Amino acid sequence: MPRHFLRDDDLSPAEQAEVLDLADELKKQPLGRQTLAGPQSVAVLFEKNSTRTRLSFEAGIAQLGGHPITVDGRSMQLGREETIEDTSRVLSRYVAAVVWRTFAQARIEAMASVSAVPVINALTDDFHPCQVLADLQTIRERHGALAGLTMTFLGDGANNMAHSLMLGGATAGMHVRIAAPKGFDPKASVLTDARCRAEQTGGSVTVFHEPAAAAEGSNVLVTDTWSSMGQENDGKDRVGPFRPYQIDGALLSKADPGAIVLHCLPAHRGWEITDEVIDGPASVVWDEAENRLHAQKALLCWLLAEERRR
Ligand code: CP
Ligand code: NVA
Repeated sequence: MPRHFLRDDDLSPAEQAEVLDLADELKKQPLGRQTLAGPQSVAVLFEKNSTRTRLSFEAGIAQLGGHPITVDGRSMQLGREETIEDTSRVLSRYVAAVVWRTFAQARIEAMASVSAVPVINALTDDFHPCQVLADLQTIRERHGALAGLTMTFLGDGANNMAHSLMLGGATAGMHVRIAAPKGFDPKASVLTDARCRAEQTGGSVTVFHEPAAAAEGSNVLVTDTWSSMGQENDGKDRVGPFRPYQIDGALLSKADPGAIVLHCLPAHRGWEITDEVIDGPASVVWDEAENRLHAQKALLCWLLAEERRR
């Protein structure tokens, strides 16, 4: 079985640190010695909209000497009657890795289950692990280290960003706080897995229902849309319960004075975050977006090097 990156805890703490170190190296030398070791193609498939993920994977694969094949998944035979498994078997004959943005986590697990090449999660309903690698790189750049820092996510505790921050942050030894309205708590299984990982690293994962208490003394505040792709018509009130969780100047003032603010983007200004905060001195969102490029290049190089070692 090749190594896949379907969720954040697919990398051990030591492996996550290796990928982040490589990301820093690639950021310093974008066209350095790291390559895909040949003119290899990588499939980059999307069943949901994307700006950053699509552009950063395409640019990154080209910078590594590879060839990205980007396809709107809705135009593939997958969108008609072909199964995920049959699609995966075919892709393995053409490309060195498959990057996929899709809906249910079970879909990418099915793709990986028969794939002869690494499969990378470019966002599912449950996880967004490439984003969190970039987030960790960004936090480390600003704070020097990750272990022991307190990172607070405010918003939908059951969305892909909350889940990935829990798993990825715990892997890095961080104290992860999830502040969400009641009824929007993280999935119990993800909470259990993240706490299990935190026990190994000295981190912790705590769920709050009071945003100011969660923000108190935090080194990092993170937010995301209150309504993720695919949830637009799920019948839940995705505005009223979330209003107190908006990152505004007052909430930011509860955090540590050196706190930084992250948002994976796209931002809904005036909803989950104010203009004052996203355009203010604590915001690192543009570095965070840039780091998608470096972190994903590092991940691809690392996974393909693992393949060569097998
Ligand atoms: N943050 C992120 O994944 O952005 P896109 O949806 O634009 O790819
Ligand atoms: N939680 C958001 C992230 C977008 C990058 C969504 O899934 O739509």
